[in-house]
Amino acid sequence: MKPRELKRGVYWVGAIDWDRRLFDALIPLPDGTSYNAYLIKGSKHTALIDTVDPPTRDILLRHLDELKVKSIDYVIANHAEQDHSGTIPRILERYPEAKVVCTPKCKDMLIDLLMVPEAKFKTVGDKESISLGDRTLEFIHAPWVHWPETMLTYLKEDKILFPCDFLGSHLATTDLYVTDEGQVYEAAKRYYAEIMMPFRTTIQKNLEKVKDYKIDIIAPSHGPMYDKPDFIIKAYHSWAFDKPKNIVVLPYISMHGSTRQMVEYLVGALAEKGVTVKQFDLAVTDIGKLAMALVDAATVVIGTPTVLAGPHPNVAYAAILTNALRPNLKFVSIIGSYGWGGKAVEQLAAMIPNLKVEILEPVLCKGLPREADFKALEKLADTIAKKHKAEGFV
Ligand code: FEO
Repeated sequence: MKPRELKRGVYWVGAIDWDRRLFDALIPLPDGTSYNAYLIKGSKHTALIDTVDPPTRDILLRHLDELKVKSIDYVIANHAEQDHSGTIPRILERYPEAKVVCTPKCKDMLIDLLMVPEAKFKTVGDKESISLGDRTLEFIHAPWVHWPETMLTYLKEDKILFPCDFLGSHLATTDLYVTDEGQVYEAAKRYYAEIMMPFRTTIQKNLEKVKDYKIDIIAPSHGPMYDKPDFIIKAYHSWAFDKPKNIVVLPYISMHGSTRQMVEYLVGALAEKGVTVKQFDLAVTDIGKLAMALVDAATVVIGTPTVLAGPHPNVAYAAILTNALRPNLKFVSIIGSYGWGGKAVEQLAAMIPNLKVEILEPVLCKGLPREADFKALEKLADTIAKKHKAEGFV
């Protein structure tokens, strides 16, 4: 792939990582990803916006050669995470005149993470600008999307917003701009769920912060660019601001079938009462799909057998993950089975302190579920349906 021109003198110079399947040793990447870097040639100065993940650095360097870039004045570091910053040391070796432009917090982090020498930095305040001659870069501090040091860069004359991770998607594609909105919506929602959802309230503030900027193109650092910016802005608005929907997410494990019988009964009872249920067998599920389902859900019901006196470890993992992702849930319940005793409910409840939820009466059965257990599940379904209705979740 060659460098690609977005507007006169503004180039995509990133790398597409088609085969990557895991990020942070945690996040599944079913569609690969890209590390988008951008070169802006002003009449006086040249700026590089973000770099690429170090294993792909030769691709960035080749792009710069192809564009005959002899000097870089500014390396804009919107974010210190290494998939964007990791090639900064190599860029500084090749272009020793370059200054790294970033927030003060990002400077500290780049010194810690990459040992960039202090003398290489130019820190910028919120709304501060630098001139490239005929073009101007404005920096918008936007902390916590998704680290504390993040900022966005706005190219005023061309009305391009470079938001780094914010508004991006893990998607490898040769399309410079979004062509398949359905595919990108799914990838961007997955990205929001896994990476941005824990910072929903700061995302709300950052969406407010960019709303008065005239934007023709949003050029994130993962996935395709948006030449219709409203598409992703509206999607983020709905994910970050909308109230939960009439949805129950039901992650579960069943070892010998008891918990599965309970799950199947509860799913049927909820469906009969008009509640949408998304059921995930944690033995095989893609946790990205689970995270996406949590964006809109009002309730989570966790299904677990009792193993070694506690919840199944896969269920514990899902509970810890849900707690960390901080979805906008309102209700939680636990169902499952045990052979002779245990503390699965107490242990699971202790794993979700971040969730500001009402805990609904759990339903645990000994061995296979019997009539009284199914009645209790019917009652739980009824309670959930009524509570969703009372809250106006549709
Ligand atoms: Fe794409 Fe937070 O790095």
